[in-house]
Amino acid sequence: MKETVIVNAGQKKSVIDRNIYGHFSEHLGRCIYGGFWVGKDSPIDNINGYRKDVVEAFKELDIPNLRWPGGCFADEYHWKDGIGDYKQRKRMVNTHWGGVLEDNSFGTHEFMELCELLECKPYICGNVGSGTVQEMSEWIEYITFSGESPMAKLREENGRKDSWKLDFFGVGNENWGCGGNMSAEFYADQYKRYQTYVRQYGSDKIYKIAGGANVADYHWTEVLMREAASFMDGLSLHCYCYEIDWNNKRSATNFDNKGWYTTLKNAFKMDELIINHDRIMTKFDPDKRVGLVVDEWGCWHEVEPGTNPGFLYQQNTVRDALVAGITLNIFNNHSDRVKIANLAQAVNVLQSPILTEGDKLVKTPTFHVLKMYKQHQDATLLETTAAYVSAGIDDVFVPGISVSASEKAGKYFVTLCNTDMNSSKNVDVHFAGLSKNITSVNAEVLTGEKMNSFNTFDNPDVVVTKALRTEISQDGKSFSLTLPAHSVSAIAINC
Ligand code: AHR
Repeated sequence: MKETVIVNAGQKKSVIDRNIYGHFSEHLGRCIYGGFWVGKDSPIDNINGYRKDVVEAFKELDIPNLRWPGGCFADEYHWKDGIGDYKQRKRMVNTHWGGVLEDNSFGTHEFMELCELLECKPYICGNVGSGTVQEMSEWIEYITFSGESPMAKLREENGRKDSWKLDFFGVGNENWGCGGNMSAEFYADQYKRYQTYVRQYGSDKIYKIAGGANVADYHWTEVLMREAASFMDGLSLHCYCYEIDWNNKRSATNFDNKGWYTTLKNAFKMDELIINHDRIMTKFDPDKRVGLVVDEWGCWHEVEPGTNPGFLYQQNTVRDALVAGITLNIFNNHSDRVKIANLAQAVNVLQSPILTEGDKLVKTPTFHVLKMYKQHQDATLLETTAAYVSAGIDDVFVPGISVSASEKAGKYFVTLCNTDMNSSKNVDVHFAGLSKNITSVNAEVLTGEKMNSFNTFDNPDVVVTKALRTEISQDGKSFSLTLPAHSVSAIAINC
């Protein structure tokens, strides 16, 4: 049987903000230390202390922005502990994540220079939970003020004369939980107060992000939008994807057929969440000026056996690739409201595109999906519809196909996921409203022999992209292809 996708080339929608393809780096486990940062004296190949292989891998993804320093760590972080001579910096306990020593050798300068190296925009998350308004205000002054001022002077004393451009700033993180256990009403007032002192010096705008809801906490979004919408540019949303739920985390690699479908079903819930949060936001912001910022998303499994439970280190299989493909299609399809998103987290934590061990690096299936999807960045979303057979087992069913499509400079791009664990799908992709004929189609696919195949340091190329055969129709307005079972595909179309 043939399944069908229709891409309406005449129905151009919102621009897919490239910042939807952002990443998140917290002082958690081996994300910063051992992940991005090894220090200048490390035997591991580095550029001024940053791992060369990790930097190069992220550049392959055209990483648009990087969020730092947390997460829960952000609301315990005091930025002045992380500046000046690193040997003199305060040594503290990372109480949130594993109770390990935090020597603050990676601080503001190291983060801003990392973003320069990655050629991406910095997204810093400030401390509302245990920090003061003055501390937050001085951090902004330290980073962005270019004239004569106490903080600009301190920055210069620490080796940096020029100010930096700070693109995104979050006023706290998960303030309903680890960021202070606040009510929505209390946080809305705190947000308005703290953000007042996130000053904009000069002409460079800082995009201010209010701490948003946990998953389906619609009350939080209602209160924040009602009380503070005019003071924010973005409102965040955190949603992780579990096989079961937060209290029942399961293995990243060892799961059964039902575990495949329950996880994908949870990934598809992102669509409903965005629709519902958007509906509330639209009541107060009908023009969609305020962006929904999904600054923490991704699969959260049980940690790898034998690793520190506080480090959240997990492997990453074809199932994670499907979650990434489905979620990114959802973000693309809601790009009228979703303006920024950050996969949690960049290296060695949760659904990471990159894992490291000593001097070794492995690119996970999720890395390959991000690389395959990058052509959507800053492209214009096109309307799509799909007719498919659902996939599932017992009482757990998911859409058989996930799709999004975009256009940039006259070139079209379609990403498709086949969620069926066992069966391939023969798909016809029709273009409606196309004035010219299709001249070439280049498709690549990511899959593994098994639904839980994954890459290891010893076998890094078990799950990698391969070319996929396509056939253009006689009338030049469609093409057909066979999506293998449990796969993610990306198709570039020229006319
Ligand atoms: O990404 C791990 C943690 O998940 C973050 O620190 C926190 O914001 C969230 O609960």
